Amino acid sequence: LDNGLARTPPMGWLHWERFLCRTDCATDPHSCVSERLFAEMADVMAAEGWREAGYEYVCIDDCWMAPRRDESGRLQADPKRFPSGIRRLADYVHSKGLKLGIYSDVGNKTCAGFPGSYDHYELDAQTFASWGVDLLKFDGCNSGSLELLAEGRGGPERALRWEYSAESSSSRPRVGSRELLFPRAYSFKGFAYKSRNFFDVYDSWRSIKSILDWTALHQDSIVKIAGPGGWNDPDMLVIGNFGLSWDQSVTQMAMWAIMAAPLFMSNDLRHLRPEAKWLLQNKEVIAINQDPLGKQGYQITKDKNFELWERPLSGRAYAVAVLNNQEIGGPQNFTFSLTFLGNGLACNPACSIRQVLPASRDWGVYSWVSSLSVEVNPTGTVLLKVAVL
Ligand code: DGJ
Repeated sequence: LDNGLARTPPMGWLHWERFLCRTDCATDPHSCVSERLFAEMADVMAAEGWREAGYEYVCIDDCWMAPRRDESGRLQADPKRFPSGIRRLADYVHSKGLKLGIYSDVGNKTCAGFPGSYDHYELDAQTFASWGVDLLKFDGCNSGSLELLAEGRGGPERALRWEYSAESSSSRPRVGSRELLFPRAYSFKGFAYKSRNFFDVYDSWRSIKSILDWTALHQDSIVKIAGPGGWNDPDMLVIGNFGLSWDQSVTQMAMWAIMAAPLFMSNDLRHLRPEAKWLLQNKEVIAINQDPLGKQGYQITKDKNFELWERPLSGRAYAVAVLNNQEIGGPQNFTFSLTFLGNGLACNPACSIRQVLPASRDWGVYSWVSSLSVEVNPTGTVLLKVAVL
């Protein structure tokens, strides 16, 4: 949408992958889905440099609601887990200089079985707006058949109206985040600020790899529709959890930057290893992700072991990623001609190259006819910035 919002991929924190649908606060007060969890996350985001790094949305996912709507048909937060209510939570998050995201579903139930927005689109839009909510993640469970969805007479069209009505009834600008559980459903520009179109991310290398493979396979149709106001969403960053090695974490961060992906972390910011924090707050990689040109990157070539990706950046620069797919052995070299990059233009007649990840380092000046040899750890990625001279 072209209304001034999400001109670069939105950034923040979202509870789902790490905290799922934990509702038992009696046994799990520290990590159940409750106002305490979001308030504490907002505290850390404001205190430990996350907000300054660009992570501005604190987002609630599924399972925040009471099992039933109130007597006037409005959605309500679970009274035990959110005793102060969402309005208060939004005020608190705003007082920290952050924004609050909430979750609903296009169907009559959310994926986890809580009340969905079907038949209540206007009312729910008004409710969220009256609470001062800034972003909506709109899930796609229980919305009937894929055909109905795709036809446009079911969920999506109404969802669109809903998004618009949410905009107009709120004094705060709002970012819509649309999700469809159906793999390969559809994503189209002008509809949402970010569209998911693949399975949920898990805390594993297999999951990250399958998202990258899916994206490369569909790049001809999805890369061109991404841009300021509407981004493809390969799902949450799981860096800082349990499943990714250091090199795999570097790969997720580097590739999410190449893909111009929304950066929503799902981890526990209260307990994060220093190296995960360093990676997630890395200024150079965030600058690539947030590049104002707003073009999504793509895979240029792939062989048995390596993938080469690039993303056009402002100032005629390119971000370049070399990913090593081999899950055996040690670091391996990948050598390629610089004429491969930017359709032959990225280094013509010469360029300076800087390594951004896994560590920042200047590589110096190269001429158009040179080859580059890059050493990459297994399942790791080397991310470069190439600036034409
Ligand atoms: C499916 C979505 O893809 C997930 O990100 C999460 O929102 C769950 N639904 C919640 O039930």
